[in-house]
Amino acid sequence: MSHVVLRGVGKRYPNSQRFAVRNINLELARGEFLTLVGPSGCGKSTTLRMIAGLEEITEGDLYIAGRRANDLPPKDRNIAMVFQSYALFPHMTVAANIVFGLKVKGVPPAERQRKLEWACELLDLKGLEHRRPAELSGGQRQRVALGRALVLEPEVLLLDEPLSNLDAKLRLRMRTELKNLHRKLGLTVIYVTHDQAEAMTLSDRIAVYDNGRIVQVGTPEEVYYDPVNRFVAGFIGAPPMNFFDGWLEGGAFVTGGVRVPLGHGLQPPREPAGAVTLGVRPEDLTPVYEETPGALPGRVAFIERLGSDDYLVVEVAGILAQARVPAGTRVESGRPVWLVPRPGRVYWFAGDEEGRRLR
Ligand SMILES: Nc1ncnc2c1ncn2[C@@H]1O[C@H](COP(=O)(O)OP(=O)(O)OP(=O)(O)O)[C@@H](O)[C@H]1O
Ligand SMILES: [Mg+2]
Repeated sequence: MSHVVLRGVGKRYPNSQRFAVRNINLELARGEFLTLVGPSGCGKSTTLRMIAGLEEITEGDLYIAGRRANDLPPKDRNIAMVFQSYALFPHMTVAANIVFGLKVKGVPPAERQRKLEWACELLDLKGLEHRRPAELSGGQRQRVALGRALVLEPEVLLLDEPLSNLDAKLRLRMRTELKNLHRKLGLTVIYVTHDQAEAMTLSDRIAVYDNGRIVQVGTPEEVYYDPVNRFVAGFIGAPPMNFFDGWLEGGAFVTGGVRVPLGHGLQPPREPAGAVTLGVRPEDLTPVYEETPGALPGRVAFIERLGSDDYLVVEVAGILAQARVPAGTRVESGRPVWLVPRPGRVYWFAGDEEGRRLR
């Protein structure tokens, strides 16, 4: 039996005409790590708050551990949540905040102390136990909120951007700790993040939201390599997939007035298509400096240096495309260049609003 199930779940806030989220269908196995991603305002926090019992569910059904939970009080759900906004008690110390839930549950003081020490050690909060939230940095507050949830040893842990205010080093450490904790405690986790690397490395599956709906649920590999539409293709991956709008006509792809003969890596979809968008990721484009069939012609604009990799930015038919090149690559701007797509890594999307993937 799945641990957490959402069937056709929707939410309309009382003061609003439209649904914030609608027709959410999700099924989490016990111990699964699911990540929700999507643009700001697409309904990620709303989904978590309904599962936690902090927002009423307008339509649909929620099941937790086999029991319908729509009307179950939050305290009976065995769920802990770390909020985007921390929601710490301002008048309590760090220590009191962390053990608050344990105290409410009647856990004896010695046990509370033990868990407090465990959390402070894990979250690098030692020495701050007696401070109040106002005397902490954003990242420290975030870790207190995480500690308060973890000491409860919940069955389901809901995390709303819990690492967003940490510096890069601490973030990476916390990411590893979260992964370990998830495994060790067998927690079922629903995680919200805007960080691509976190979503790809932590998740068993990723749910991609667009404007209050889930458009695709799949493993990190599925959403990356097999996106269902242009939105998912453009949302997953950093730097993002390059898109070229145009149409297929007489053995060529025409984009921005440029005719690119099909061939080599540039193969058309099997299904018939007219107006299309071509999508290729930066790592799947190789620049060459002579005319090549199946390659997109352009001119070098500049090189973006990210340290470990460089990205050659090329003007192709009026748009800027990125191609990954080895660090330290030198090439003068204005030089003619052809971008060769890697075979099997070319995506086609319908050229309409919906942008369905063409196969
Ligand atoms: N209490 C509320 N009353 C009315 N509308 C709300 C309320 N809370 C959220 N909304 C609206 O519901 C939609 C979804 O909001 P939600 O907070 O779930 O987005 P999100 O995906 O978490 O975004 P972000 O990435 O910015 O945190 C938004 O349009 C938002 O304005
Ligand atoms: Mg949110």
